[in-house]
Amino acid sequence: MPVVVMGMAGTRWTDRAGRIGGAVYDFGVEREWLARPAGRLLWGTDARRLNASIRAIRELPDGAAVLDVPCGGGVALRGARPGIRYVAADISRDMLTRTRRRAARRGVDIELAEADVVRMPFADGEFDLCVTFNGLHCLPDPATAVREMAGCVRPGGRLVGDTIVRGAGLRQDVAIGMFRRAGLFGPGGTTAAFERWLDGAGLLIDRLDVSGAVAHFAATRPGVIGS
Ligand SMILES: C[S@@+](CC[C@H](N)C(=O)[O-])C[C@H]1O[C@@H](n2cnc3c(N)ncnc32)[C@H](O)[C@@H]1O
Repeated sequence: MPVVVMGMAGTRWTDRAGRIGGAVYDFGVEREWLARPAGRLLWGTDARRLNASIRAIRELPDGAAVLDVPCGGGVALRGARPGIRYVAADISRDMLTRTRRRAARRGVDIELAEADVVRMPFADGEFDLCVTFNGLHCLPDPATAVREMAGCVRPGGRLVGDTIVRGAGLRQDVAIGMFRRAGLFGPGGTTAAFERWLDGAGLLIDRLDVSGAVAHFAATRPGVIGS
């Protein structure tokens, strides 16, 4: 399991959430009996939709490569399987350690990269698929992050993920404001802003649907498939 260490300083998210906050979040997101009521209560969404998005990884053909960023504690490893290259990237060493342990428990071989999502150490078009779950709203510059992610997938490759968006309702916007003040969320954006970021990154939007305050999306980098 190779590890690329970029020696990044912690971000606001990692500084604020800390090891315990990260562990608590990761514990919750991994357990459907907790994630479902929390998703419903906080964001008015059905947390099971995450599983449908994660299926994009499992459906990759043998020999394909997937980038999972930010991987957090490795919730998307549910989609990992032998025969595909799985690279998990995050700025937090603690979260990468959690991902490494989870991969070992699941018996899947992965690569880990300690990296800032806006300066990723990958070649242009290195991956067939980039997945990004529950992360874009945490980042200080989500538009740049989307552009970086788009650059990591080959022409014909896809970016699939979800993010919390503003404007779904008062309760959700209040919760977003609280997480922002706590330093756990970045500026984020509305669904329309998010659509602009995908578009600005040169991606063609295949699917963008909003459930409560969570936008789920799939987008393709234009170009010749397989080139
Ligand atoms: C809420 S977690 C979500 C992670 C995971 N995909 C999930 O669904 O559980 C957000 C993650 O973003 C990571 N993160 C925050 N800022 C980052 C950055 N600039 N570059 C890479 N990862 C970052 C944090 O370390 C954390 O693991």
